[in-house]
Amino acid sequence: MRYLDQELESYKNRAVYPFHMPGHKRNTAIFDEGKDPSYESVYGIDITEIGDFDDLHDANGIIRELEDGFAKIYGAKNTHLSVNGSTCGIMASVFSVTSEGDLVIAQRRSHKSFFHTAMLRGLNVMYVYQDHAKDDISEDMIRMMDENPGAKLVYLTSPDYEGYVQDVGRISEEAHKRGMKVIVDAAHGAHLRFYPGNISFPLEQGADIVITSLHKMLPALTQTALILENDSRTDGSLIGYYLDCFESSSPSYVLMASCARCLRYLQEKGQEDFLRYGKMLEDFYSLNERMSVLDLATSKAHDPCHIFIGGADGIWLAKELRKRYDIVTEMSLPTGVLALSSVADTKDAFLQLERALMELDGEAGVHPCKDDPYQRFAKLVVPVACSAKRAMEHRELIDLEESVGRVAAEEIMVYPPGIPLLIPGEMITERMIDVMGKAYDDGLSIKGLKDRKIRVSADI
Ligand SMILES: Cc1ncc(COP(=O)(O)O)c(C=O)c1O
Repeated sequence: MRYLDQELESYKNRAVYPFHMPGHKRNTAIFDEGKDPSYESVYGIDITEIGDFDDLHDANGIIRELEDGFAKIYGAKNTHLSVNGSTCGIMASVFSVTSEGDLVIAQRRSHKSFFHTAMLRGLNVMYVYQDHAKDDISEDMIRMMDENPGAKLVYLTSPDYEGYVQDVGRISEEAHKRGMKVIVDAAHGAHLRFYPGNISFPLEQGADIVITSLHKMLPALTQTALILENDSRTDGSLIGYYLDCFESSSPSYVLMASCARCLRYLQEKGQEDFLRYGKMLEDFYSLNERMSVLDLATSKAHDPCHIFIGGADGIWLAKELRKRYDIVTEMSLPTGVLALSSVADTKDAFLQLERALMELDGEAGVHPCKDDPYQRFAKLVVPVACSAKRAMEHRELIDLEESVGRVAAEEIMVYPPGIPLLIPGEMITERMIDVMGKAYDDGLSIKGLKDRKIRVSADI
């Protein structure tokens, strides 16, 4: 098989002059810093659709081979590469199986990319609410399917940002019985196909389309993702069409080259390295037997590569890890810290984290877990008052404290994760204002609130 990264590398070394884009012309000497080897290698392979280098939006050469390579290792019928992340893949996938006004069943605890897609597509979404990431939603999803037999699509996230998985197999089976398609946002699960645990990748469980970020849990550059199709009934050409609509018409060859490297790595070393990584993680989790306050989450419905350290105030714990041990984690909550691991982690890195946690375990008792209103917002949400589009037609900015009973006209999110507390079209309640106010006072990164003001619909 030819690999894009290797072809680009050999092309770089040939004396061909680029009278074409990009404008840097691979000439880094024009910058003040002069030639810098670390940048040279990136600029050197940053080309455009020339000669034998194919076109992502009409792939039939070396990029098609790359997509087919991924299809093969994931057991998919068809695969599309995205260099605009899972975000773009989610948009294209949902557009490909729905029409304006369609009824869709989705988890309210979805990533913002789904809400944006639903708004742009004008979907009529019935939400399934859950209080905690770990709550199993299959019963509620199936009940929702029974109540909405006309739904076209069931949309869920598995694994989610914290590593919790849903019963994709059962939900897919029930959806298919009713003629509904299933799309799974597995942005955080690209490794599950290779990790030697009990959790299978959603495509193996029967989902029709799975979107997964290569960059989150596998060794690939930021923004790279895959859209994998299980089902020849989902129209791959429509996904391609919508990717063409939403994705840059100048997809980065640097990013695509990193996908090629990732693919070759998985093909050649994946099995061996994932076995070693699985063993390393298993050893790491034995830390639970030695810690008395801190606790690493373990459950059948939780991906161990998403290490969740509970038992203490995560805001305190993350700060100490950063300050005293030079360890930066993915997310901190009042209930714990999320530390993402991957096959690229070294034994030394695990030992460093282990040592730090053993020491901090002795101090954690005086920093107990705190109440976490941001993770329990589901029950706070008042069902949608109007469509997001309608809510956003005319907007006004008002004081948060004055907004009770008004309709949100912008997403409000404690970030990360990108799961909105409020979406446009939802009614704002007093309790929700308390939660947002507390997040604001706690100094959390909260998107959508500016100087304690909130955008609401001016008409409704
Ligand atoms: C659950 C979930 N889905 C989708 C996305 C979007 O992925 P990407 O950053 O690859 O666009 C994210 C990003 O963090 C996410 O957490």
